[in-house]
Amino acid sequence: MQYFDFKMPNDFNLFCMGDDHCGSRMRYADGFKIFKDLLTSESFDLPAKKNFFMHSGDIAEMVFFDDKRYFPSSIPDTGQNVLDQIEFVVSEYSDIKEKMLFLLDGNHTYREGFRSFGAITTEIARRLGVNYGTWSSRSTYRDKKGGVMFRQFATHSRANIRSRVRPWRRAKTNKEIAVKQYLEYKSADCLLNTLGHCHQLLCYRPENRLYLHGEDHRVQSRHATPADWHGDLRFIPEGFRYYVSTGSFYKLYGPQGTVSYAEIAGFDPIELGFAVAKVRDQKLVGVDLIAVDNDVKHGYEIIE
Ligand SMILES: [Fe+2]
Ligand SMILES: [Fe+2]
Repeated sequence: MQYFDFKMPNDFNLFCMGDDHCGSRMRYADGFKIFKDLLTSESFDLPAKKNFFMHSGDIAEMVFFDDKRYFPSSIPDTGQNVLDQIEFVVSEYSDIKEKMLFLLDGNHTYREGFRSFGAITTEIARRLGVNYGTWSSRSTYRDKKGGVMFRQFATHSRANIRSRVRPWRRAKTNKEIAVKQYLEYKSADCLLNTLGHCHQLLCYRPENRLYLHGEDHRVQSRHATPADWHGDLRFIPEGFRYYVSTGSFYKLYGPQGTVSYAEIAGFDPIELGFAVAKVRDQKLVGVDLIAVDNDVKHGYEIIE
């Protein structure tokens, strides 16, 4: 666990991304470039200087010949060994490191086979000069005067988010609920909760639920909104927080002649991309899911 405190502008976009698995030929390099372009330009109604990001872990693939997931055809020239992959990650992120609030570890970089190398994600963070967030972290986002805007709990997780039910819409809802269930008891005061690892792009949004209360001898009704839960709170009811699975840049099918472990596991296709938490006037007002795809006009689509 790591604890962070960030002083932020009143309006900002927090890009929540991860699982890009540098050093694998399944990595969607074009999609990562779209992410970088959006991060470093005016996007989602704010200038580039108001865009920041956090990384949910599995920044490098780190699968080599002694690993059952290893296929020689799936390792590019930039990823032949541990040192190559560290070098490649540093080159991929060096031009956006100032925007990175923290980098989490992941099971690909944090496993027993690498103990003799030291701590890989720690080394990447040290070389980039960014915050190392361990496996999970709690961040407090503050305004310029130090007041709490909201908090985030972020973890790589070991979440296995799957559903085989039909129709598709019910499976999607079940997966959103599963993301919430994984995170909801981890941190009661965090309006924003995020996980990586499962490579899904999902968001359980605060329930827009009708509730009743009483005033002046009569019943009144209103809808709950996330705006009710800002500031320095100890407890936010589970249903009124955001729970996000931050997606990935790991493709199901790679180039000609390659094999991916997602392909062997028989996983269905999933959107590649990331989430953007939008903060306006010090309030977290929404989370957009951004599916990157070079087949569409702008290189991305905002999905539900
Ligand atoms: Fe991953
Ligand atoms: Fe993972």
